[in-house]
Amino acid sequence: ALSQSDRALVLALWKKMSSNVGIYATEALERTFVAFPSTKTYFPHMDLSPGSSQVKAHGQKVADALTLAAHHLDDLPGSLSALSDLHAHKLRVEPANFQFFNHCLLVTLARHYPGDFSPKMHASLDKFLGLVTSVLVSKYR
Ligand code: HEM
Repeated sequence: ALSQSDRALVLALWKKMSSNVGIYATEALERTFVAFPSTKTYFPHMDLSPGSSQVKAHGQKVADALTLAAHHLDDLPGSLSALSDLHAHKLRVEPANFQFFNHCLLVTLARHYPGDFSPKMHASLDKFLGLVTSVLVSKYR
């Protein structure tokens, strides 16, 4: 679980990102597709070229889900329940892909917020993303 200081760090960065979470989530998706090309196989129906408006729209959806999660740290399973069903039952995303995306999101945030990205911030964000992942993969059989 997240400690009080983990929560404070995650919420502080979220506040700082303000309405830019979608921009960073989109950049993290683009980075994931380049650094871990096998992740692209889940999006055969999307234009994945750099600057794609489809990736941008998807990045905004992922960002909104993460923002919701950041504000419901006491009830991640409840707030992400529908998304958990979607990723496990419908999309059948292999859990390793979440590690790839989480890593790319951390790298993206570290590049944009070098002054905030202390080792403690890194650890707290990693814990947060790990908890989100554990909910999203919890319904796999
Ligand atoms: C769809 C969130 C990780 C593959 C979505 C949607 C959200 C979301 C909000 C849109 C749901 C809707 O339209 O109702 C997240 C979050 C993630 C995550 C918060 C991790 C932090 C992943 C990963 C993959 C993946 C790692 C695979 C590499 C997909 C696919 C769709 C989707 C294929 C459907 C896209 C479409 O056709 O519009 N995800 N996702 N997701 N996600 Fe994820």
